[in-house]
Amino acid sequence: MSIVQKRPQLDHDVVMDELGPWVCELVEGSKRSGRSESVKICAGIVAGLSQEPGDVGPRPYDGSPMAKAAAIQHACSECGYMTGKWLGKCPACGSWGTLVEERIAAVPKGAAQAAGRPLLRLVEVEAADAERIPTGVAELDRVLGGGLVPASLVLVSGDPGIGKSTLLLMALRSLSADRRVLLVTGEESAAQVKLRADRLGGGADVHILAETNLDEVCATLERERPDVCVIDSVQTLYAPELGSAPGSVGQVREAAGRMLRVSKELGIATFLVGHVTKDGNVAGPRVLEHLVDCVLHFEGDRYRSHRILRAVKNRFGSTNELGVFEMTGEGLEGVEDPSELFGRPQDDQPGSAVVCALEGTRPLLLEIQALVSPSDLAMPRRVATGVDPKRLSMIVAVLGRHAGVALGQADVFVNVAGGVRIDEPGADLGVALAIASAARGVQVREGLACFGEVGLTGRLRPASQAERRLAECVKLGFSAAIVPDGTESRGKMRLTAAETLRQAIQAGLDASGSTD
Ligand code: TYD
Ligand code: MG
Repeated sequence: MSIVQKRPQLDHDVVMDELGPWVCELVEGSKRSGRSESVKICAGIVAGLSQEPGDVGPRPYDGSPMAKAAAIQHACSECGYMTGKWLGKCPACGSWGTLVEERIAAVPKGAAQAAGRPLLRLVEVEAADAERIPTGVAELDRVLGGGLVPASLVLVSGDPGIGKSTLLLMALRSLSADRRVLLVTGEESAAQVKLRADRLGGGADVHILAETNLDEVCATLERERPDVCVIDSVQTLYAPELGSAPGSVGQVREAAGRMLRVSKELGIATFLVGHVTKDGNVAGPRVLEHLVDCVLHFEGDRYRSHRILRAVKNRFGSTNELGVFEMTGEGLEGVEDPSELFGRPQDDQPGSAVVCALEGTRPLLLEIQALVSPSDLAMPRRVATGVDPKRLSMIVAVLGRHAGVALGQADVFVNVAGGVRIDEPGADLGVALAIASAARGVQVREGLACFGEVGLTGRLRPASQAERRLAECVKLGFSAAIVPDGTESRGKMRLTAAETLRQAIQAGLDASGSTD
């Protein structure tokens, strides 16, 4: 015990793990050769424990059980955290019951030492200007930043049944006209893919491989060398030598790592399909996200026909681009003018406002709906669909404190039309206006759009690229807009510049019905 007290920073479990085998050794030693062996082992224990945590020097007593590395590791299936022993709660991401056993392949003894490689200066690097491959699906090209980059690895993630396989089969179908393309399917049989292709109308030249063994897939890619390859899905691939089940953290990481190497070495542009778990993470490890060049997320309401494709990460373009699709009987159809779809208010009731948000380079008009109802709860509800809940809480607080719209006793629900999610601060004013309109029972003026960021002091901050947003409003027939003070416009819109949120609400709500 005195040893433990001398090192109060040691964790109890760590000390017990370390001491346990030593104590057994001590008992055995003293049985074997008496006092001298015991003294030697005790000296080893003290020297071992008195090493600083970072110390890597040799310990005086050799051959102890401590020297063995754990053959089995436990990995968190949510975040990839690794630990030697099983824990109920992951210390890194805090999720419960997500640690699963992973077998670590032994590193062969005497593995070749790397010799190092010559360096290059940046000026000596020859970079062929990557010529993009158009996928034939315009909305997908837009999200990729103008087409597929050769030798890139793209992860397409989304809920099961959202349309990932359909989207990629459509892309392969049009790519197959002038390139060699391969679909590796581990989820569906070749016959099922054929049926789907028939339904989509074509795709006769798409090569197909129904295989889940990673070695076989890599060997086939090396032999066939297609230009574009789709792996549907990365969770079905498995490397036999790892011994764990397909879809486990180690397998998914190995599969993505091997596909990365193969795609870069052979110059194959590769799409990996990845399913997401119920809380929206790419299933298994988030490790996939930093391995790949692009992460595209396919989302939308499964019960409605619209789907949004969003770049979460893109090494070759903007991450804010947005592709909008509609699922029809003949597959996915790109929606060229989503503002027309989402930005037309369905009815002229209080609680609806139109905002012009900017997603990447694309201005998008969206109808935001709000409902404010008296609450019996001690902590009234703030429910956001399509808006960040923290942002909603902030807007509700600013409305109460700086704009005279008290919501302390009311439940507030906000919904963005069409299942679209908006992360951009320029949409704040639309959310605030919809809530104020619902709270006061007064509708927003007809033909009015708005945009602007709401600050904590109740002031409005200008939003970026105002000119583009206003042009989109004009295109859809909006005649007036409320914008933050300082926004310039050369267009023919009637602009109301508001300095504060209070002014914007006064200008935006229909004065004829106002009770303010
Ligand atoms: P799918 O691409 O299989 O989804 P994922 O690969 O993401 O799991 O698409 C599944 C849904 O799309 C399915 O429920 C049926 C629907 N669908 C259509 O409505 N029309 C079509 O032409 C196709 C091919 C699918
Ligand atoms: Mg699928």
